[in-house]
Amino acid sequence: MKLNGENLKISIQKKGRLSQGSQELFKAAGLDFESSDGRLFSRCSNYPMDALYLRDDDIPEYVQDGVTDLGIVGLNVVEEKGNQVAKLDYLGFGTCELCIAVPKASGLTSAFDLSGKRIATSYPRITGAYLEKRGIDARVIEISGSVEITPSLDVADAICDIVSTGSTLRLHELMPIEVVLKSEAVLIANQESLRNPRKVALIERLRARILSHLEAKKTKYVMMNAPESALEQIRGILPGMKSPTIVPLAEEGMIAVHTAVPEDVFWDVIEALKAAGATDLLVVPVEKMVV
Ligand code: PRP
Ligand code: ZN
Repeated sequence: MKLNGENLKISIQKKGRLSQGSQELFKAAGLDFESSDGRLFSRCSNYPMDALYLRDDDIPEYVQDGVTDLGIVGLNVVEEKGNQVAKLDYLGFGTCELCIAVPKASGLTSAFDLSGKRIATSYPRITGAYLEKRGIDARVIEISGSVEITPSLDVADAICDIVSTGSTLRLHELMPIEVVLKSEAVLIANQESLRNPRKVALIERLRARILSHLEAKKTKYVMMNAPESALEQIRGILPGMKSPTIVPLAEEGMIAVHTAVPEDVFWDVIEALKAAGATDLLVVPVEKMVV
């Protein structure tokens, strides 16, 4: 199989923290890819797009150079590499923090304790900028992997590395003392592709599908029964959505109310609805939200 020159190309991580999330996002956006097992690329069967599976560290460069039009990669990698790419959308998965961490027994408690010390990291650019901005004169040692073992080998006094669940740090008796960067997966684009009308049209259709999934994830659909007399109060509780669907019930004076509720205020809204007289609340996930 060869790459199709007409198709949009997107690079995603071959193996690592973001690979599963990237493939799940494609699926949730309704894009079907052929199996990627062991391949460098695969074709989408229902969208003119090919996916390339690469090392995450290489993705910003490939996108900058136009090898692929788009890429899904951690903000941490984009910021570290400093390539000229457009950041289009944050994708809500692969959240992590780039942290400075020190051995638990070190007595070091803040970044300002690190003057004169050695910090090992795979993120020399971000780490260096962070230290410089705060006037901390520490030595940055660039290490390409397994940074967490450097303090125990006396290669470094501290590390600056990605913390996701925190289990890698715990395993090595390290504790975070500063957050240098908050990161998540981001959709990046080649600048030239964004000047090509045919590609822009394909990119925008793709983004609409991705964004409808991201919006839906933030929303629950709630159905409830209530006395008709509680309707005004219930409407007052429902947050900033378009007017709810009201259906009369067979029982005289009772109605059913259907509405979307944003995830972040979900429990507050549910409690207020119950207090207003709503009963039999039924909550279902929203799969797509097209506005
Ligand atoms: C990071 C980091 C740790 C791990 C931390 O690697 O280097 O090894 O994740 O995760 P935890 O807090 O859940 O234990 P990353 O996935 O970014 O891999 P890479 O550097 O090989 O690309
Ligand atoms: Zn990597």
